[in-house]
Amino acid sequence: MTSIAQDKINLFSPILIGDLNLTNRIMMAPLTRNRAGEGNVPQAMNVEYYRQRASAGLIISEGSQISANAIGYPGTPGIHSEEQIAGWKRITDAVHEQGGHIFIQLWHTGRISHSSLLPNQSLPVAPSALKANGQAMTFTGMQDFEIPHPLTLAELSYIVNDYAIAAQNAKSAGFDGVEIHAANGYLLDQFLRDSTNLRDDNYGGSIANRMRLLIEVVERVITICGAPCVGVRLSPENSFNDINDSQPQLTFNAIAKKLSDYSLAYLHVLEGDMLTGERHLDYVALRNCFTGYYMANNGYDLDSGNKAIEQNHADMVAFGQLFIANPDLPERFAKNLPLNEPDRNTFYGGDEKGYTDYPSYGEQ
Ligand code: PHB
Repeated sequence: MTSIAQDKINLFSPILIGDLNLTNRIMMAPLTRNRAGEGNVPQAMNVEYYRQRASAGLIISEGSQISANAIGYPGTPGIHSEEQIAGWKRITDAVHEQGGHIFIQLWHTGRISHSSLLPNQSLPVAPSALKANGQAMTFTGMQDFEIPHPLTLAELSYIVNDYAIAAQNAKSAGFDGVEIHAANGYLLDQFLRDSTNLRDDNYGGSIANRMRLLIEVVERVITICGAPCVGVRLSPENSFNDINDSQPQLTFNAIAKKLSDYSLAYLHVLEGDMLTGERHLDYVALRNCFTGYYMANNGYDLDSGNKAIEQNHADMVAFGQLFIANPDLPERFAKNLPLNEPDRNTFYGGDEKGYTDYPSYGEQ
């Protein structure tokens, strides 16, 4: 007499991460929106934006720089000043008041930056002195990327320390946890992948060496937040920001395996290429290298998301563009309601238009 269908785990099943009882597995992906206020401080419209989306099982905040040296774009929030901590506290309070949960994504952009954005007009930093093809978004428009300063061993230890300070700040700001951004061609990913890491010291060469910085960051952040409050994001074959690896399956299977040592909150994987949507890796094999929860991302919808969970490809799914346009995405999914279309022209920068003015279904 028991119904098998009711026992099936899908997007609407709750999930326990550490002490956090998440009401569904429909996660809000980290989304750069370039709408922080003066001093890269979260402001009132950011509070409203996250409050509207608090029905996500878990919100992962937009990438937030761990220090002034980590900035890569105008208008992105930080988590390194008192004002920024206070700004984020208003957001975490608003999300918690709605019964939601929120992690902050800790971000260092590395070479994907520009001296005009950095303290003392200093050069962006990277594992190696290799310029990215493409242009940085600056206050005076798009400008070519620069040849980055290759980090010294002493500078690497300062950066690990900056992650620890940022994690402490995230706790003060009331976040439920942190996601370490090791994806999409930013600093930690520049170390992981061999097109951007030509170092011949302990931080380059072998896969174990290339993941050393990430592992040091994970270990330090865990001492502050506790492992069940720390997630990691990877993007094994995303070419965004002019990056690639000669053996992505081998490299990222090894990283997933190593990260299994830590009882993390989750491993979050942007599967395939963000720009083309192409996927060549075996993500089931990657997932099977990781013993904790696996969060899948990139182009999923209600059906493919449910399928991914039902078929045990993923434990949860993160949705990006769908959450931009649908603040009440879990309810729309649950009731099979029509979805608002996201407007690309308002993704990056601007005001409330295309940010907090997407209606929930009930408001339409
Ligand atoms: C973006 O600006 O499009 C962007 C930022 C951070 C990411 C991915 C994309 O991790």
